[in-house]
Amino acid sequence: MNSPGSESDPLPIHSVIMRIKVCRKMKQDGTANVRSFLHLCFFFAGKEMSMENVTNIKQEALSRLEACESLADLQELRVLYLGKKGPIQDLMKSMKDLPKEERPAFGQQVNALKQALAAAIDDKRTVLEEKEINERLQQEKIDITLEGRKPNLGNIHPLTLVQKEIEDLFIGLGYSVEEGPEVELDFYNFERANIPKDHPARDMQDTFYIDVERLLRTHTTAIQMRVLEKDSPRTPIKVICPGKVYRRDDDDATHSHQFTQVEGLVVGENIRLSDLKGTLEFVARRMFGEKRVIRFRPSYFQFTEPSVEVDVSCHMCGGKGCPTCKGTGWIEILGAGMVHPNVLRMAGYDPEKVSGFAFGIGAERVAMLKYGIDDIRHFYTNDIRFLKTFTRFE
Ligand code: PHE
Repeated sequence: MNSPGSESDPLPIHSVIMRIKVCRKMKQDGTANVRSFLHLCFFFAGKEMSMENVTNIKQEALSRLEACESLADLQELRVLYLGKKGPIQDLMKSMKDLPKEERPAFGQQVNALKQALAAAIDDKRTVLEEKEINERLQQEKIDITLEGRKPNLGNIHPLTLVQKEIEDLFIGLGYSVEEGPEVELDFYNFERANIPKDHPARDMQDTFYIDVERLLRTHTTAIQMRVLEKDSPRTPIKVICPGKVYRRDDDDATHSHQFTQVEGLVVGENIRLSDLKGTLEFVARRMFGEKRVIRFRPSYFQFTEPSVEVDVSCHMCGGKGCPTCKGTGWIEILGAGMVHPNVLRMAGYDPEKVSGFAFGIGAERVAMLKYGIDDIRHFYTNDIRFLKTFTRFE
């Protein structure tokens, strides 16, 4: 029987010659030692040694596989044995040097070795992967019983709270909200508001100038003037204009060089002082309680005629007199009036046909009254203890 590995098989002479040739060529090429070694083995020991080699490689590979401790080691081993330059590939290549009749059996052996090794490596990978997952689970264990750190969440600033409350109220009455630039043109801040360049009324609202034309706006009336110009001659106009304003003022408990206004403007046919009064009474009741009443006192603004100062009955004492209302029973909350004909005319409206009212609410003043704050500077100094007290009003 001519089975591979049988001792009685003679080594054919052509096979011996071919092996010598191969060894010589490998020497010239300087090809890897393992390969030369294998070929030499074939040469000296004939096919019995070839089969032995398969077994040796298998044993060596399996024992190295056994010793593998990580997936990286395993990958290295796979490349070493199953890669293009590995010993198994060399065995395959050496097959052509064997006598024809020996090749199938030898090839089968090498293939079997290859498959067995690949399967063993795969099995080992499953084991190692599981091992590494378990190690990571162990290392990355989280103690879920430990209390987490609470993130320090901020809350809404009291002035924003008041501004939003006023905005919501007016949106409910059909007004829209308009904003404008804080660095404003003299034109909209003063001229269009019926305060010409040399008018003494400018002294009441002195401010910070960027240049002769531009300044930090002194009131959000400037936004109203922009709205009038933009929408002219369309009616009705119903807007509220919130925003920061600036004045040259010495800061103290009740004054600040920067503060917040929410001003309102309504223009249309037949708008009367009684409409203004009804609107403001509704707002005062919503902000300070349903029992509040308001009163108008004559006042002066360049852009309204007549102009009024609006007081609301004290929400602390109900009008009897207390420290909040300085014993008068009334608290001044805003300035207002009927839009001056000059203002309407400058914006392109006919004051014979349309009329309007305007008012300006100071958000700080409202917030101080509502929340019992005694110093306007608290709003701007960012003391967390102060700001945190407003969480409950959100
Ligand atoms: N602009 C005025 C101020 O800042 C307030 C105001 C607005 C008065 C609208 C009347 C009408 O003092």
